[in-house]
Amino acid sequence: MKKDNNRNYNKSYNITTFGCQMNERDSETLAGMLEELGYVENANRKEADVAIINTCSVRENADKRFFGTLGQLKRAKEERPETVIAVCGCMMQQQHIIDTLKAKYPWVDLVFGTHNIHKFPELLTNILNERNKIIDIWDEGGDIIEGLPAKRMHPFKAYVNIMYGCNNFCTYCIVPYTRGRERSRHPEDIVREVKTLAESGVKEITLLGQNVNSYGNIREFPQDFTDLIYMLSDIDGIQRIRFMTSHPKDMSDKLIQAFKECDKLCNNIHLPVQSGSTRILARMNRKYTKEDYLLLIKKLRAAVPEIAITTDIITGFPGETEEDFNETMDLIEKVRFDSAFTFLYSIRKGTPAEKYTEQVPEEVKHERFNRLVNRLNDISQEINKSYEGRTVMVLVEGKSKTNPRMITGRTETGKLVNFKGPLEIAGQIVPVKITESKTFSLNGEIIDENYR
Ligand code: 5AD
Ligand code: SF4
Repeated sequence: MKKDNNRNYNKSYNITTFGCQMNERDSETLAGMLEELGYVENANRKEADVAIINTCSVRENADKRFFGTLGQLKRAKEERPETVIAVCGCMMQQQHIIDTLKAKYPWVDLVFGTHNIHKFPELLTNILNERNKIIDIWDEGGDIIEGLPAKRMHPFKAYVNIMYGCNNFCTYCIVPYTRGRERSRHPEDIVREVKTLAESGVKEITLLGQNVNSYGNIREFPQDFTDLIYMLSDIDGIQRIRFMTSHPKDMSDKLIQAFKECDKLCNNIHLPVQSGSTRILARMNRKYTKEDYLLLIKKLRAAVPEIAITTDIITGFPGETEEDFNETMDLIEKVRFDSAFTFLYSIRKGTPAEKYTEQVPEEVKHERFNRLVNRLNDISQEINKSYEGRTVMVLVEGKSKTNPRMITGRTETGKLVNFKGPLEIAGQIVPVKITESKTFSLNGEIIDENYR
């Protein structure tokens, strides 16, 4: 990148990010590129010189929110035509979205996809020089591009991509079509990145991939996912390692053993189950049964009794009967998840489940969803209550978002803890005694007198 010739002093950018951690990580790369070009961040997207919306297409709701946000930018473009409006991310990998943008959103200047983010500075410079519109979408990812800049959102914790794409084709899911086939980064590139992060003060890394358990399956190197964890745990300064997301069908005994043996690997796993009905799991193409999943949980808890387990569950998948749903209710009683992300099934164009005829009526989907969420929340609260009176180690992240007089951080098991203490201890791992529990967080008191 030609840094100096293209500097844009006093110009600003804003990035709106929808969706998952992958997208957040991509937005960090876009921000890093813009800052190299001389742009500064602007919290107001309507006033920015370059406004980017990084989109998600996992559910219909995300599509709607994107078009709503894009609608708001029409006025900004009319008032300041030199503003560059750019859209990118998963939605752009779908032809019907591109058609809609062309037909109804003429104020968009730049459209790019998930496979050519590294081209963004070139595309932007082109637009600024020529003042034309560009739509540049690649169908598949080429080689993984290393060494792109990034403006990290958090000083002490960082997302680290280890692989891109997904080969699983769960029948409800759009991701294999928007993010392409599985490709793993070379372990040495990952180690290099994590060493740099550690040198800059990062204490906790979260390894990202659609299915991290299959890291290295399609590869030119011998290491698998667990080997990678051990390699990263050797890096000084890194104190906590997490990962997401893992697919139950690829969860190895070797990885379960690592939870026990690798001190830096946090006692916390996100293991999406999606449904408790073996029949529905087969229709979802998940490749495991309810019993397989329960056995995995048993093995994880046998290795690490205090492990916190979180999940994703979809209600109202086509053909889901009351009996199937009750299997899900039964599974949550047996597993007792620390917390869960719950989703109403939403039809995604181009996926196999779109064609399934037995769509569940909206009101049935909602009613099941509410029953599920109520019970999940009760279980979360019960588990959180068991933390009361215990002392836990918290990695302090900074000021609490809900109460500016408190500071906040997470336990190794991923629980959010709010407590009083000086902001200067951000980045440290400190002992906190839990005094009160809620459904989604804990309150506590720092043990060390010096910090009160
Ligand atoms: N409808 C509802 N939920 C979905 N998810 C993925 N696709 C769909 C869909 N079509 C959920 C799954 C996945 C999470 C990221 O989003 O639970 O694990
Ligand atoms: Fe989608 Fe299944 Fe791949 Fe996850 S594993 S991204 S749910 S296809």
